Amino acid sequence: MDRGYIYVNKKSFVKNLKYLSQISKKKTCLVVKANAYGHGIKWSVRNAREAGVEWFAVASIDEGVQVKEEFKDSRVLLLAEPSVGQLDNILKNDLDLTVYSDSFIDALIDTGNEYNVHLKIDTGMHRIGCSPDKFDYLFEKINDSNLSLAGICTHFPLADTDKGHTQNSIDLFKNTISNVDIDNLLCHVDNSASTFYNLDESFNMVRIGIAAYGIEISPVESENKLLPTMEIKTRVSNLQHRKKGEAVSYGKAKILDRDSVIATSPIGYGDGYPWNSFPDGHVLVNNKICKLIGRVTMDQILIDVTDINVKVDDEVTVLGKSENGQHEITVTDIAQWNKTIEWEILTNMSRRLERIEIE
Ligand SMILES: Cc1ncc(COP(=O)(O)O)c(C=O)c1O
Repeated sequence: MDRGYIYVNKKSFVKNLKYLSQISKKKTCLVVKANAYGHGIKWSVRNAREAGVEWFAVASIDEGVQVKEEFKDSRVLLLAEPSVGQLDNILKNDLDLTVYSDSFIDALIDTGNEYNVHLKIDTGMHRIGCSPDKFDYLFEKINDSNLSLAGICTHFPLADTDKGHTQNSIDLFKNTISNVDIDNLLCHVDNSASTFYNLDESFNMVRIGIAAYGIEISPVESENKLLPTMEIKTRVSNLQHRKKGEAVSYGKAKILDRDSVIATSPIGYGDGYPWNSFPDGHVLVNNKICKLIGRVTMDQILIDVTDINVKVDDEVTVLGKSENGQHEITVTDIAQWNKTIEWEILTNMSRRLERIEIE
């Protein structure tokens, strides 16, 4: 091991997907944008296909192409309207489109081609989506055109914190589509969080991201069955003895309150390990919890190893379990030290960290 490694765990990932499909009782559309939440798009697609997943959601055409390269017959849904200049690319790569704006739908119709579209309704997220009172008009326009309506969808702003608010969005959605025969359409509204409580049978697909990668964030009690799919490890690359009163790393942000042994490990914010992990964060070295002792730098972190036996090349766990299983650092821990959300921690994990696939 030279710098840092991301270990992605196939068994845990496949188990999560199977468990999620068992509780949702619907098709899964796996969200693989942002390098599949840091796990690698191709790895995620390959293993999700083994778990029976056929649909994938992406944020960019390039991500969609990566899915298709791995499995040509996968269905891929682009989650927002691209620029009209990209329409040839969409056709060439056989991507389904999320649509919601009159002018974009007109531009699609003008091509004369049969694009697969999913009409998105804004039921409260207020980011993208047609307003409910425009739904009938756009629905008719699509149905009377060369376009092929594959699905109807919405997205929730508070699924992870407010079940009541989410229920209001669901009611609005159902009310909006009440005149539509949805038998041959995909209806997809849930993300990970709401999959744990929205068991509405009129919908037939869920768009799952973070839960597939082992992180459960939901306002409801659950069985806690998801398994982490990512671990990050690096090594001790340098050891130094420093005196009480000295400081290490940029900004001299902490003055040592005792004579200390400081380890350096080659991972930093340039790898996606976030800068704000200091001062609250820690890592695991030789089965012990060891605090960060100075600011995270672009390529290296500094760790207080005064109380343990350590030598250069010993393994350092940045995310995951200690070797003896007694301690664990979760994505949620790192997110809390950094006052951010788990999604940001995962999606920022850089391609500089080599991915190692664990079967
Ligand atoms: C439209 C849409 N659907 C589903 C998801 C998946 O969300 P989660 O990772 O919370 O499951 C996202 C994530 O950003 C999204 O933007």
